Amino acid sequence: MSTTLLATWKEPGKVAIEAAWAKRATGGSLLDCLEQGLAVAELDPTLMAIGLGSLPNRDGEIELDAAIMDGTDLNAGAVCALRGVVPAISVARKVLEETPHVMLAGEQARRFALQRGFTPQNLMTPQAIEAYENWKREPAKYERKYVHSLEEHYGDTITMLGWEAPRHVIAASATSGLGWKTPGRVGDSPIVGAGVYADDEIGAAGATGWGEELWKAAASFRTVEAMRRGLDAQAACEETVRHMIRRQPRSTWMPCVVLALRADGDFGAATSVGEFPLWVCRDGAMEFRSYPGLAAEYG
Ligand code: GLY
Repeated sequence: MSTTLLATWKEPGKVAIEAAWAKRATGGSLLDCLEQGLAVAELDPTLMAIGLGSLPNRDGEIELDAAIMDGTDLNAGAVCALRGVVPAISVARKVLEETPHVMLAGEQARRFALQRGFTPQNLMTPQAIEAYENWKREPAKYERKYVHSLEEHYGDTITMLGWEAPRHVIAASATSGLGWKTPGRVGDSPIVGAGVYADDEIGAAGATGWGEELWKAAASFRTVEAMRRGLDAQAACEETVRHMIRRQPRSTWMPCVVLALRADGDFGAATSVGEFPLWVCRDGAMEFRSYPGLAAEYG
């Protein structure tokens, strides 16, 4: 069955999209392959914005957010501020499939995960501890370096969209959120309509970048609704980002990115600033694309 997968950012996106396609190639469903892509990335300790060994909050604790949404019936599962359990995306899938709820939070999300057989573990690797100690010593120097750098694509939240013919879409996202965040802070990624949205009638959209701004814009839902009005995926993404640049000036301080995958397979992406790297996999053929920041057009 014809399949398109999208994954955000250069290094983390590559890990995720290769793992997702490997799952697809062995007969996995779209849900399976997006979960697998994000789970493998979460378990990779070298990726600094997702899962094991990612950047902690101000207290030196890693708190994970994740969501997965099925365009078949708009069913969704999410976890936020989850500590000491990976992969958060797999816990989110359990929320989707094994509860009548959409989101579980914090300590109760962790309790749910442990009840479902996940193993508690310390997510702070030596590299994460070193990064935290560096930040504590010189916060100004490290504040942005690991968060969003326009020059060095350390990356951010991995958001994935999946499409299969004739008209089925899934959206999923996993992140440790902003580095050095206030404990308990939750960003756009696990929020239906902000970080992810999927509706087989129209298509799917996802977000990555500065979660507060993307959430305020209801970026994913806004983008899907733009496609519902007839825009193609690229035009819909650009409309959302231009709306943010106009209404939310702070959205030009750090990248705010949306990506979309229409129910007919058309796709696109846009970012407020910087250059946004996107991995695309069409029936196993990998392609790496780059999208320029739209704020530059406004001078
Ligand atoms: N987009 C990820 C976050 O801000 O948490």
